[in-house]
Amino acid sequence: ASAKKIINNTDVTQTITTQMLSSILEDNREFYKQGVVADYIPELGKMDPKAIAFSVVKHNGEVINVGDVQKRFTIQSISKTVALMIAVQERGEKDVLDKMGYYGTNMPFNHFANLETTGKPLNPMMNAGAILTTGLIEGEGDKPLQKILDMIRYITKDNSIEYSEKVYLSEKETGHRNRGMFYLMKNNGLIEGTEDKLDNYFRQCSIEVTAEHLAKIGYFFANQCVRYDGDDRYKSSEMSKLIQSQMLIAGMYDGSGEYARNVGLPSKSGVGGGIMVSVPGRIGVGAFSASLDASGNSVAGYHMILDLVNKLDLNLF
Ligand code: DON
Repeated sequence: ASAKKIINNTDVTQTITTQMLSSILEDNREFYKQGVVADYIPELGKMDPKAIAFSVVKHNGEVINVGDVQKRFTIQSISKTVALMIAVQERGEKDVLDKMGYYGTNMPFNHFANLETTGKPLNPMMNAGAILTTGLIEGEGDKPLQKILDMIRYITKDNSIEYSEKVYLSEKETGHRNRGMFYLMKNNGLIEGTEDKLDNYFRQCSIEVTAEHLAKIGYFFANQCVRYDGDDRYKSSEMSKLIQSQMLIAGMYDGSGEYARNVGLPSKSGVGGGIMVSVPGRIGVGAFSASLDASGNSVAGYHMILDLVNKLDLNLF
């Protein structure tokens, strides 16, 4: 018989307090020293490595925030989950995923050698697949970006969310590798149209959010795409299974397998320092600290999540 104790949602909700999250944050604050702030995009390099925040949306929708709760940072790759949802809503899962794959990886997020071998991206979470996913969202010009923004605003109930023009321009100016992938996929017949489509990817990465916003998005995917206040207009258990399974196998890039071993939950990181976690059927978690490990995952963010997961026995396995 399993020794694993089953903690139900009521227990989890009662156990998570501001005091508990504060003590987890303080215990892990110094981990930023073990990583480095991403600077391959010059604007990202300006992030304060000491800023840190941790948020949970409980099963009943109650939000708890600790640390630098007002701090906005760019969502980066975490936006790929929402873009995937929109592309699949519009075209169906088969149409979108037939153009790429459901594969995990031992390669970094900007790897694209398989565009030359199988001709297709590995999955929608790494850059190649994400650029393709956004390119598959219908609409001219920046319409796809607006759809992603609107969905994030809906999930978080925060219409103030915008993208940073500065980070966007910095990404666009230095994103030669992403541009290369875009043209290879055009050459392979996967993407049609102009570089506007790639611009939407650069802009979606530049959307500015807080840890609380990430916890709300994590909650949404954890709970069959039902919003934290109970609004269920996008309810879909299939969509939440697709997104969470992608988060589990590729959300932390080449760190995904080791992360799944230790944390055991669908999670998505971004090079802005955010990590979004979905605890299936339960809660959403958002962590922020800009200093990253070699895979591009927030070091302090990872340690805060691991502590929470161990304290509440949230590891799925
Ligand atoms: O495509 C890029 O280079 C970034 N703007 C987004 C990648 C990202 O967040 C990968 N992360 N961990």
